[in-house]
Amino acid sequence: PPLRRPQGLFEFLRTVRANPLATWMEEHFTASVMAGEGVLGRITVVSEPALIRHVLVENAAGYRKDDLQRRVLAPGLGEGLLTAEGEAWRLQRRTLAPIFSLRTVRGFEAAMNAAGERLARRLVRRAGTRIDVAQEMTRVTLDVLERTIFTNGPQNDPDALARAITRFLESVGPIDPLDVFGVPDFVPRLGRLRARPAIRYFAEIVEALIARRRAVMAAGEAPQDLLTLLLAAQDPETGEGLSDLDVSANIVTFIAAGHETTANALTWTLYCLSQDPGALARLEAEVEAAADAEGRFTIERLPFAKAVIEETLRLFPPAAILSRQALKPDRLGRVKVPQGSVVMVSPYVLHRHRALWEDPAAFVPERFLGAAREAIPRFAYLPFGAGPRVCIGQSFSLQEAVIVLAHVVRAVRLALPGDHPPVIPVQRVTVRPQHGLRMDAMRR
Ligand code: HEM
Repeated sequence: PPLRRPQGLFEFLRTVRANPLATWMEEHFTASVMAGEGVLGRITVVSEPALIRHVLVENAAGYRKDDLQRRVLAPGLGEGLLTAEGEAWRLQRRTLAPIFSLRTVRGFEAAMNAAGERLARRLVRRAGTRIDVAQEMTRVTLDVLERTIFTNGPQNDPDALARAITRFLESVGPIDPLDVFGVPDFVPRLGRLRARPAIRYFAEIVEALIARRRAVMAAGEAPQDLLTLLLAAQDPETGEGLSDLDVSANIVTFIAAGHETTANALTWTLYCLSQDPGALARLEAEVEAAADAEGRFTIERLPFAKAVIEETLRLFPPAAILSRQALKPDRLGRVKVPQGSVVMVSPYVLHRHRALWEDPAAFVPERFLGAAREAIPRFAYLPFGAGPRVCIGQSFSLQEAVIVLAHVVRAVRLALPGDHPPVIPVQRVTVRPQHGLRMDAMRR
């Protein structure tokens, strides 16, 4: 994005609305801490690993997620893990942690392979044509969520659920200026009013699914998917389970937090690979060798694919900003953080920071292999955040992205057409290519 300082308030707001990534200036990519007084109050941007560790881990109790995130997300997501705060969050996190343990996530390998195979069949059928890659990656991540959350949806009609999810997600619209300026919640927002029917419709579907699943569980015949695990989950300290409302809020949260993020990670990965024939050839060789007799994959056998995904998450982190509000005054190096002000860590800026990365703009998956990987400072690479609020779906999404990528690479080769509009990252809810991504598919 252009690194030109927006001139005046109006242009700044227009830039934020069009693409927040375009508000980062050259100096953000070299400074360790920058504080500014703007229309949104005081904001401190921090890119120094030790100071990030202080904000996200050591002094995590001195911060909370900022109000803007809550205002934007809570109307659609309810009080799930992403939006809850304080004791409500702690209780949910304790209860949900085992559901995303490595062991449980491994149990979803078959579902992820099935979704990958379905996508590969679709791509092979359409070889020789131009494919909307962003749309296909969205479809496959929804397919994975359906297979892992609901084991194929209501009344065995996966498409009905996909339609409901899509309608719901489309309703979670762009950031409302009233939220940006902290206008109280009782003032109606047009976007929120418009979104209400889709949110209610989706909530009803989830409610019905929960009721049906409770009945199946009572009969001892439930599939071991996320819905069953959520309904059976118990707080390890008190032994209590989640209420139906909590279960429903977290189902919606997993879908919203886990779908577009992973879809964009895969989209950017296919773009990066189309620009790097050497990396693609190495990946194709690894994938051929890793496939089992049925053509299925496990993440352990795909270390280079994992490095490719991790390097893509460096250049195009789907969650471009982690934002916190100081509960009490703090200090970051020489910079004072007043109580109530906002501290931001931008994985996008951090991952391209000149002091932290050699040749930051280059796509080099080898950064994430062996000794090179070990040398990356822990707080220089944060696609999934860090500290108590680190992404709970991290292993889930890495495993999903690696397995799906392997199926795509084995099925087709994708090339960026010469007449494609420039592939520029824009930050909407997540970071995606401004004009989408369409590529020519050739059968392998
Ligand atoms: C939190 C990124 C996939 C569920 C987060 C955070 C980040 C993130 C950066 C921390 C936000 C903060 O500290 O302010 C990503 C990326 C993904 C991904 C880049 C894919 C490439 C998933 C998946 C799921 C998920 C697949 C669930 C199935 C969550 C939840 C939280 C979260 C529930 C809130 C955790 C808490 O506050 O305790 N994610 N995520 N994410 N993510 Fe993910």
